[in-house]
Amino acid sequence: MINEGIVNISYIIATILFILALGGLSHQETARRGNWYGIVGMAIALIATVLGEVTAQYDKLIVALLVGGSVGLILARRVQMTQMPELVAILHSLVGLAAVAVGFANFMDPGRLAHYTGVELTIHDIETYIGVLIGAVTFSGSVIAFGKLSARISGNPLLLPARHWLNLLLLLGSIYYGYEFVQQSVAGGGMMPLVIMTVLALLFGIHMVMAIGGADMPVVVSMLNSYSGWAASATGFMLGNDLLIVTGALVGSSGAILSYIMCRAMNRKFLAVIAGGFGTGGGAAAKGGEDQGEVQPIDAQETAALFANAKEIMIIPGYGMAVAQAQHIVYELTRALRDKGINVRFGIHPVAGRMPGHMNVLLAEAKVPYDIVFEMDEINDDFPNIDVSVVIGANDIVNPSAQEDPEGPIAGMPVLEVWKGKTTIVLKRSMATGYAGVQNPLFFKENTRMLFGDAKDSLDEVFKAL
Ligand code: TAP
Repeated sequence: MINEGIVNISYIIATILFILALGGLSHQETARRGNWYGIVGMAIALIATVLGEVTAQYDKLIVALLVGGSVGLILARRVQMTQMPELVAILHSLVGLAAVAVGFANFMDPGRLAHYTGVELTIHDIETYIGVLIGAVTFSGSVIAFGKLSARISGNPLLLPARHWLNLLLLLGSIYYGYEFVQQSVAGGGMMPLVIMTVLALLFGIHMVMAIGGADMPVVVSMLNSYSGWAASATGFMLGNDLLIVTGALVGSSGAILSYIMCRAMNRKFLAVIAGGFGTGGGAAAKGGEDQGEVQPIDAQETAALFANAKEIMIIPGYGMAVAQAQHIVYELTRALRDKGINVRFGIHPVAGRMPGHMNVLLAEAKVPYDIVFEMDEINDDFPNIDVSVVIGANDIVNPSAQEDPEGPIAGMPVLEVWKGKTTIVLKRSMATGYAGVQNPLFFKENTRMLFGDAKDSLDEVFKAL
């Protein structure tokens, strides 16, 4: 309906907006604006595509848009903050599925052989093959990640014997069938190798994510994020759509950078995570059952007294703060304490919670000022000067066994060294382990007190007592 020039200009504007969106999202202060850039960019892209590229069958397109849009709207309204990572994982799977569907549709298009010949056909076939391959790995991997994050599948790594050989076999198989596909496609065939490769890629996605242990899931989530981008980019090549190529590349590369940051935060090598086998629950997990001594409980009144007498307080939020939705009372408490002249700060571990930036989002929602929220590296050396460290529903990220037990599933992961402070108060409901399934020696330390109960209820009581 609109001419190609307008479509191209719209695509360029959308691309610029996507880049601005990514830039905005890298700082809390500008994140909201970044989101808006993204929304507007996506709206422009969608409208330009519908008006510029689609030439017939508008009725079906509108029905599909309405159905898809409504499902998205309902899901987004219903989802709890704690279910966000699962939602993200399942959305990645849809990108993968779409790439597979587009790849097959492209291949089965009767006009394909008339449109492309010779080298062009080969290039087009390779694009299709790679798009389906990445799409299928992203799809099945994301479905398994969804299962693991929502605890429908055990977080323990599944370690098949000779698993590296199995992966290598799947890879070689994919290359072989790729060759077959390109050869047969010229003669009008090729469906069989494409289907076989799709099955191999689905198996590879399942196997890859099943082999990754609980504590390494952050890397997997961001890695699948990256894959979904490359899948979209490959789809862009198949369809000859520049915007999709660029957008996919933006998602793919930012996901890859995020994976790298996550790996650094967990002190892991990217390839080692992909190869799997971390989080096997060796040393420290096995020790979980052992008697580590007695814990020392504390009540809300005593906690309030400790707070009132402190000069320096460090709050360490974790996944439990999200579960309890305690961020608002955390901020009220913070404000009350700061009004008394107590220096209250927040220490955020890069993989606290269940998704990158999880804690920052919650604290921002509760309007905690950004200038008292610090990253782990900025404050980890301050703990000897801290009077009271308050661990709110965090566990793995403050586990000293990461440093003390070289055999454990979280060995080597940098942690917030709260035990170096004068007193640590841990708010949680029970002695249950965190995501990685490792017992935490912090709870048994002499200067640790356990405030048992739901974090929000406990903090409500502490606030009243203050
Ligand atoms: P966890 O180690 O999972 O510990 C959370 C703790 O919160 C649990 O021990 C739980 O103990 C407590 N809790 C749950 N509900 C609570 C409530 N209502 N009130 C009070 N406490 C509650 O969390 P973390 O310390 O934030 O560490 C994050 C973990 O998740 C790491 O292992 C990380 O690798 C993994 N992970 C992170 C990500 C990203 S990207 N951030 C993604 C996937 C996985 P009780 O049950 O006893 O209350």
